[in-house]
Amino acid sequence: MEIEQISNIVSFATRSGLLEELRGAPATALQVAERNGGDHRAYSSVLETLRGMGYLTRSGDQYTSTQQHHELRRDNSFCWDQIPEFLQTGKPWITIDSSPENLDAFYTKFFESVGYANQMSATAEAVAARLDGEPGHILDVGTGTGLWSLAMARRAPRAKVVAVDFPQVLTNHFFKRAEQLGCLDRVEALEGDFHEVHFPKSAFDRIVMGSSFHFLKEPAADSYVRKVKSALVKGGEFVVIDHFADATPHQRLSRTLYEMRLAMRTQAAKNYSRQEITRLCSRVGMLLKDSFEVEGPGFLSVLVFEVDFNA
Ligand SMILES: C[S@@+](CC[C@H](N)C(=O)[O-])C[C@H]1O[C@@H](n2cnc3c(N)ncnc32)[C@H](O)[C@@H]1O
Repeated sequence: MEIEQISNIVSFATRSGLLEELRGAPATALQVAERNGGDHRAYSSVLETLRGMGYLTRSGDQYTSTQQHHELRRDNSFCWDQIPEFLQTGKPWITIDSSPENLDAFYTKFFESVGYANQMSATAEAVAARLDGEPGHILDVGTGTGLWSLAMARRAPRAKVVAVDFPQVLTNHFFKRAEQLGCLDRVEALEGDFHEVHFPKSAFDRIVMGSSFHFLKEPAADSYVRKVKSALVKGGEFVVIDHFADATPHQRLSRTLYEMRLAMRTQAAKNYSRQEITRLCSRVGMLLKDSFEVEGPGFLSVLVFEVDFNA
C-alpha cells in the first residue's frame, strides 16, 4: 500500500478542514472544489482516496465524512504530535493509569467526547449473538459504558449484569446506558480497582473483559485469573476481547499502532498476546474453547475460556 501518499492526503484533509467541511454535510467533488477555489479533477482524486481509506462515504456523487469517522480520527490522532518527545524520553504523553482517580477521570471524559458506544454497538451485538448459551449472571470487568455485557443482557432477558469499574465511569456511563437500554433493573456494580475488588465465588456463568485486560498488571496476573476462575460457576466462561489479531500484515500493523497508543498514554498497560492469555488461563484451569474475530473499527478478537473441572 502507498502508505506515505495516503498519510499525506489524510494529513492534508485533516489540517485543511476538508474532512470537517464534509462532516454530516454531503457535497460533490465539484462543489468542494468550487468552495475551496480549487480544481475539480484534483479534488475528485483526493476525495476518492479518502473514501477508499474509509474516511468518507459516497452516495451518488456526494461525499460525506461521517460522525463515526470524525470520532475515530479524534481518538487516533490525539497524541501523534508528541512522537518526537516520546522517542527522546519514552515517556507517555499522558499517564492515564498513574492512579485509579486518573483512570476514572480519563475514561469518564473519553466516553463523553467519543461516540464510542455508538460506534461499537453493532460489533457488540454481533459478539453477543455469536457466543453460545444464555447467561444468567454476567460479570463485566472494566465495563466502561457496558458495551459488551449490556448487548449480551439485551439478548438474554433474564440475565443480570454486575459491572466493575471506577465510580464516575459507572455513574456517568454504565448506569446511564443501562437505563437508556431499559436494563437498569438488571444491573449492579462493584466499584473500584479490579485487582482489588472481591468477586463473589461461583456466582457468574460469564465473565467478560472488553478492551480492559490490557490494564491487568503483570505481577498480579496469576492471582487475578485465579480470582476470575473461582467466580465462575461450573460450565462458566471467561470472554476476553482485545486487539490480539495478528494473522495478516494489516492486522499486525493495526496491533502495533494500538500498542504504540497504549505506550503513549499509560505507564503499565500491556496488550497481552493471545498466547500469553491462554497460558495464564490454562495454568489455573481455564481452557480456550473458542476464538473468533469481529468486524468493526480496528481488529478485535474474542477469546473464550471455559473452566476445566476435570483439572
Ligand atoms: C478501554 S475501556 C473499555 C470499556 C469497555 N469494556 C469497552 O470495551 O467498551 C477500559 C475500561 O476499563 C476500566 N479500567 C481500567 N483499569 C481498571 C481497573 N484497574 N479497575 C477497574 N476498571 C478499570 C476503565 O475505567 C475503562 O472504563
